[in-house]
Amino acid sequence: MTSTVILISGRGSNLLALLEAKLPGRIAAVISNRAEAGGLIHAREHGVATLVLDHRGYASREAYDAALADEIDRHRPDLVVLAGFMRILGDSFVQRFSGRLLNIHPSLLPAFPGLNTHAQALAAGVRIHGCTVHFVTPSLDAGPIVAQVAVPVHGADDEAALASRVLAEEHRIYPQAVRWFLEGRLRLTAGRVVLLREGPPAPPLAAPVAA
Ligand code: GRF
Repeated sequence: MTSTVILISGRGSNLLALLEAKLPGRIAAVISNRAEAGGLIHAREHGVATLVLDHRGYASREAYDAALADEIDRHRPDLVVLAGFMRILGDSFVQRFSGRLLNIHPSLLPAFPGLNTHAQALAAGVRIHGCTVHFVTPSLDAGPIVAQVAVPVHGADDEAALASRVLAEEHRIYPQAVRWFLEGRLRLTAGRVVLLREGPPAPPLAAPVAA
């Protein structure tokens, strides 16, 4: 049976989508760097073990990353899932879990890496925005892309409206990508994403749609 460890820092809506998706194998643990992360409650309600590993107790990023990696490895995970884990992970951590470390980012990468992606999208005036699931590599928000969903940006959108439209798609795409990985269909080979038995392409999205 596969083992998955999920890392969070906050509200945990993506975690909840993963918990409710009845994924193959077991979610062995949810680890948060913040004790007040709301997602910890979702994990406990689903009977998943939780651990808080507060980064403020460590002298350096390397020391924290090493402690976190050791805690993760206790569960011998096939996959480590970042679900709103708001810390940059150093190179040695990323190497240790290379090819089995996934992240979701609320933009259509490579556009708008980093924070405040919805504000960035509104400021840039893009008409199409979205979310990306990618393998994590040492470069921030730049790893090989597994899947993306696009959403339209409407003229009246503010940051909250756009964020909620994107988030609904995050909740669909992340469980899908994690399922592919746990079923052995998704792999990182020589830095490229391989998805076995890929389905038919989704219809293209154009925005705005003509009246
Ligand atoms: C999501 O928008 C995710 O894409 C980003 O952080 C946010 C986490 O939200 N990495 P939640 O904690 O899953 O609700």
